[in-house]
Amino acid sequence: MPQLLLTELAPAKVNLFLHIVGRRADGYHLLDSLAVFPGAADRLMAGHAPSLALTVTGPFGDGLDAGPDNLVLRAARVLAERSGVTAGAALVLDKRLPVASGIGGGSADAAATLRLLSRLWSISLPDGVLRELALGLGADVPICMAGQAARMGGVGDQLSPAPALPPFGAMLVNPGVAVFTPEVFRTRTGPFSGKAFLPRSWPDAANMARDLSALANDLEAPALRLCPAVGDVLAWLRAQPGCLLARMSGSGATCFGVFRDGRAASAVADRVPLPWWAWGGGFTDRPGSA
Ligand code: C5P
Repeated sequence: MPQLLLTELAPAKVNLFLHIVGRRADGYHLLDSLAVFPGAADRLMAGHAPSLALTVTGPFGDGLDAGPDNLVLRAARVLAERSGVTAGAALVLDKRLPVASGIGGGSADAAATLRLLSRLWSISLPDGVLRELALGLGADVPICMAGQAARMGGVGDQLSPAPALPPFGAMLVNPGVAVFTPEVFRTRTGPFSGKAFLPRSWPDAANMARDLSALANDLEAPALRLCPAVGDVLAWLRAQPGCLLARMSGSGATCFGVFRDGRAASAVADRVPLPWWAWGGGFTDRPGSA
């Protein structure tokens, strides 16, 4: 194994709300969403090598194919092609986030690959080109490239500043059932939602949770039909002391709870029923989120 030189985190994104506001002629849905990155992450490492190779390790590594269709290798190939790089890379993905779980794990891995290999290969493509490559890899990859809280529009690719977010605690819980994004979108029925009105800032977690309660994740109902375990996770989160809001993220099945602070979220992490996966911690907004 070649020496691994560089490491990059691939943080999970959580959709605090997600409205489906329309549908394009090509079948992709138009969204209005507020995405945050509470801190749970995969880890990607890279070293120099003559060709591209990927090894997957970690608690969720078994569920993932390390073949050429893996988003990490697809991201590596498009970056090499676009920048004229002929070198390879030995990549190791430490898969700590559940697969196909609505928190953008695969998209985060792809974004981390673009960042990591830009460093390893010493290339610096213009931001616009990187954004275009990111979107070609998936609708969630641009927000994962940004890696900070942002409002998502378009198919998820049009990013604008998030409200100034208060510190809050986040608890992520996944029931261990993979949910396939295209199926959830296909199962959604009914009218489209409107765009949400958000204030410029929230003074504290309770105010934020109160406003978010009036909004929704429009993919929650179809995901519940496909994966009833989502309902069990939501009921469990809502029963936890200090849980201000419980909702599904993305197309599921991971759900999140909002708490007053990281300590309140971590306190319930020990009580999560096995074999559910859980992560709890504090969220602190970074200045200049966009
Ligand atoms: O872009 P990505 O490959 O992540 O999307 C997976 C699938 O999710 C798409 O093929 C599409 O069926 C659905 N999708 C959608 N509208 C979006 C994002 C994804 O319909 N904005």
